[in-house]
Amino acid sequence: MEVARYSELTPRDRADAQRTLQANAVDLDLEKESALPHARIWVSRLEGQSVGCVLVVWAVADELQIMQVATRPEFKRKGLADSLLRTLVNHARQQRSRWLLLEVRQSNSPAIKLYEKYGFLQTRVRRHYYSNPSEDGIDMALKLEP
Ligand SMILES: CC(C)(COP(=O)(O)OP(=O)(O)OC[C@H]1O[C@@H](n2cnc3c(N)ncnc32)[C@H](O)[C@@H]1OP(=O)(O)O)[C@@H](O)C(=O)NCCC(=O)NCCS
Repeated sequence: MEVARYSELTPRDRADAQRTLQANAVDLDLEKESALPHARIWVSRLEGQSVGCVLVVWAVADELQIMQVATRPEFKRKGLADSLLRTLVNHARQQRSRWLLLEVRQSNSPAIKLYEKYGFLQTRVRRHYYSNPSEDGIDMALKLEP
């Protein structure tokens, strides 16, 4: 596979990154997210190709909340989300965040396996947290040592 490149979202990437979310039925407006002072958005792109994976994070106090991560269907299982997660964990350590947090659908085993690979633990079940379809949510957390 071509070498993937990681960078923060630029206005030029936005429409392409939005398509990656849409292809995964993710309802998140990247234009609105980009305008939030506490939001950071990273993308991975394969050389000469469009955005393959999008990661949206909110920084709140000493916590980083993963709002979304999604890979374009044709680029799945090629290590793109893996590399973005590694980039995020390194970034979190550098800026001395204490926690990485997220919520995920209970049935979303690809995402749960991805987070567990990085040491996230399941901390709480939120009954009927999601709708359309209704489903429990799992809180996951990774504590970063100071
Ligand atoms: C979850 C998701 C982001 C993974 O993206 P990806 O780029 O295909 O993932 P990678 O190829 O980097 O895989 C990294 C790790 O994730 C896990 N994983 C990813 N897809 C998996 C699958 N279909 N089944 C099991 N584990 C999976 C594995 O642990 C994998 O590590 P491994 O290759 O060493 O086994 C992708 O499936 C996706 O876009 N899902 C839809 C959006 C979504 O549900 N986001 C999560 C919201 S909380």
